[in-house]
Amino acid sequence: MKLVLLGPPGAGKGTQAKRLEELRGLKQLSTGDMLRAAAAAGTPLGLQAKQVMEAGQLVRDDLMVALIEERIAQADCAKGFILDGFPRTVQQAEALDAMLAASGRGGIDLVIELAVDEPALIERIAGRYSCAKCGAGYHDKFKQPKVPGVCDRCGSTEFVRRPDDRAEAVAVRLEAYRKQTAPILPYYRARGLLRSVDGMAPPEEVAAAIDKLLDEA
Ligand code: AP5
Repeated sequence: MKLVLLGPPGAGKGTQAKRLEELRGLKQLSTGDMLRAAAAAGTPLGLQAKQVMEAGQLVRDDLMVALIEERIAQADCAKGFILDGFPRTVQQAEALDAMLAASGRGGIDLVIELAVDEPALIERIAGRYSCAKCGAGYHDKFKQPKVPGVCDRCGSTEFVRRPDDRAEAVAVRLEAYRKQTAPILPYYRARGLLRSVDGMAPPEEVAAAIDKLLDEA
């Protein structure tokens, strides 16, 4: 299964992709996570991407396409993968189709849009934080650790917030979604691949709706 999860910042792509990876053995490929890891490691790509990301803008298409092309060729993607955060422009969607055709793997099987309205996105992003040690995700309102201030997964007491979750960067990210990413929806609709899920529902209900679509595919 080659799945694309599409949706604006904070729609729940990462939340759902992590769950699908655990349950279905499909590799989650989050381009945002890859870029943050590259920035933390100080690689040339990471250094180039860091400022662009913190401002909320999109990293250049050619860099992103090269990153994904190299990643999906690796052995852990052989059974399938979930693209979380890619493609983000029509150019990236076209490049993805071309690279899959060239590799003989067949095209994308399904594109699932998580539809969430903007006030809810802003509330989700503003409240989001994660464990500094293991990366487990939390939210001030929607998902607090069972013991306040202690990570459920690893017991760490240190937490971090993303620099691009500041209000000014969030406004730029939402604008980038509207102008550069939303045009992908008609691209995939025209190919009969697009399904939409109500991302405003609680995470378990969103998960159940995604499972249904995957079982039908
Ligand atoms: P990226 O890391 O991909 O960020 P994003 O798309 O803005 O998405 P988020 O990670 O913010 O949100 P999400 O949809 O995963 O939601 P989550 O599950 O965390 O990209 C960051 C940057 O990298 C970009 O701005 C760009 O600069 C660059 N970049 C990356 N890919 C690129 C590309 N292809 N081209 C160019 N540049 C690229 O959920 C959010 C919160 O809501 C969490 O707290 C969660 O607990 C909560 N939540 C989740 N689901 C629900 C629910 N159903 N109800 C209530 N709360 C929920």
